[in-house]
Amino acid sequence: MKRRSLLRSLAATAALPAWPLGALAAAPAFEPVATRLIPGTQQALPVIGLGTSGAFDVGGSEADRQPLAAVLDRLLQQAGSLVDTAPSSGSAESVLGALLAVGGLRPRCFLATKISAYVPETARAQWQNSLARLRSDRVDLLQVHSLVEWPSNLAYLRELQQQGKTRYIGVTHYRDEAHDDMVEVVRRQKLDFVQINYSVVSRSAERRLLPLCADRGVAVLINRTFEDGRLFAQIKGRPLPAWAGEIDCASWGQLMLKFVLGHGAVTAAIPATSKLKNLEDNLGAGRGRMPDARQRERIAALFA
Ligand SMILES: NC(=O)c1ccc[n+]([C@@H]2O[C@H](COP(=O)([O-])OP(=O)(O)OC[C@H]3O[C@@H](n4cnc5c(N)ncnc54)[C@H](OP(=O)(O)O)[C@@H]3O)[C@@H](O)[C@H]2O)c1
Repeated sequence: MKRRSLLRSLAATAALPAWPLGALAAAPAFEPVATRLIPGTQQALPVIGLGTSGAFDVGGSEADRQPLAAVLDRLLQQAGSLVDTAPSSGSAESVLGALLAVGGLRPRCFLATKISAYVPETARAQWQNSLARLRSDRVDLLQVHSLVEWPSNLAYLRELQQQGKTRYIGVTHYRDEAHDDMVEVVRRQKLDFVQINYSVVSRSAERRLLPLCADRGVAVLINRTFEDGRLFAQIKGRPLPAWAGEIDCASWGQLMLKFVLGHGAVTAAIPATSKLKNLEDNLGAGRGRMPDARQRERIAALFA
């Protein structure tokens, strides 16, 4: 690893309160991915996080949980990496909570979950259930899931933030059709984070949402970078273009992720995976050169 990138990574990691200070003395045995600051803070997030929807919804089967333990363990070698989950993602919260507890990984994880209550009374129960399933007494980021009843849920999130139960709050969605509503929420509310869909084939966020978030100092997480995996079917069998090496991409997945990370308003991407091999591939997109505007258009043209 280059000395400069090691120092940059250590400097960024030092801003994370969960990192045990003694460990900073030793160089990590892996190559860290780039980090970006959460706007308005000195806290840095690795640009590749992890989604758990689908991938972690495996119930109680030990055989199914084992590969996920390896995925988490690898991701969290870089302390402070973000893992995103939700109470509505089947057993994902419980599985994640159990694996974090068993591996002693909770202090290394920037843990994000969501609230999607349709009436205020159920929001409290949903939150308590999430904490129990996650085996934690707080999270790092709490989001209104898919803008469900966002005025009442966001008010509750602010309450929890004031109580120190979540460090950051935000709102999420996963469809282009919701971007106009997201724009209104970002304009009218003070938010720490938004989580939205953005990919080589879904670029609606570029029009107003991403510039607005940059303008308002809101951190941006990107979901559906692979369109729930469908983009891999689209390029199946096609050779990687030779110029991918110019931006240090060794796979199609890295091209798709670097397209997203190449947008200046993006803080981190959260591709979901249940496989160590794919996680390693995704982490690779957080290293090396990022595409400029012309190179991003070249990537997008491959999927047109
Ligand atoms: N409303 C919301 O708030 C909302 C909605 C949607 C998503 N999200 C969040 O965003 C996360 C990601 O979105 P998503 O799960 O819908 O889809 P995604 O990340 O676009 O795609 C995930 C799919 O890509 C595959 N994959 C991952 N890395 C790969 C690689 N390097 N090579 C080949 N295949 C790869 C995974 O399969 P394998 O498991 O086989 O690797 C999985 O099938 C979710 O888990 C969730 O945390 C939030």
